[in-house]
Amino acid sequence: MRTLRAFAVGALALVALGGLTGAAKMTGTHPAPRYDDSGRLIFPSGYRQWVFLSSGLDMSYSAKSSTSAPHMFNNVFVQRAAYQAFLRTGTWPDKTVLVLENRRGATNRSILKHGQIQTADLMGVEAHVKDAGRGGWAFYAFGDAHKPAAAISQARPCYACHTAHGAVDTTFVQFYPTLLPWARKFRTLAPAYLAKAARD
Ligand code: HEC
Repeated sequence: MRTLRAFAVGALALVALGGLTGAAKMTGTHPAPRYDDSGRLIFPSGYRQWVFLSSGLDMSYSAKSSTSAPHMFNNVFVQRAAYQAFLRTGTWPDKTVLVLENRRGATNRSILKHGQIQTADLMGVEAHVKDAGRGGWAFYAFGDAHKPAAAISQARPCYACHTAHGAVDTTFVQFYPTLLPWARKFRTLAPAYLAKAARD
């Protein structure tokens, strides 16, 4: 009985804490993108509880290889509800937020002698947000302090590369292995991507 009461008190304390920090609201749901009064995107602080799409290591888009240390991983996440919508439709619903975080790699840690692990050293967080009320997709880059970020200008190469090469709706679904089969099933792959894939 005493254990039960202790459990109940603990659970209440957790609920109260969740209410204070807003953490309960973010968990595993579809938090819509939030903006401040200047239209800057507020850092989606719960993104580590979203669905993990994939990692890349030392990704580079120029022919010159850049495998010199330090190595860098990138990890991509999306809200669970947006992921589930993709499984139903093969594309992203309005208010989708995709987050890409860059982390420094390391070797020779603990028992590791070869290969790379990811470290706590976060090198940057970027977001790709679909918001019809704001003209469609936009990119955002957050600095160290995770302060609200203004939309990146359409003139920057982010938009041109994603539009020309992203397999679904300007996103790189060709590199997200659990989603690509659904895009094939629902025939949502971009014509430019299909034409290029046929030539490869
Ligand atoms: C030359 C091509 C290219 C350019 C330029 C580029 N990206 Fe990307 N981006 C990629 C690729 C490839 C991926 C897939 C990453 C993976 O597989 O881990 C990606 C993925 C992303 C994602 C994850 C969601 C998605 O759309 O698939 C975000 C967020 C992102 N990029 C932000 C940016 C921002 C911000 C810029 C500009 C500052 C930028 N990118 C410029 C190629 C590019």
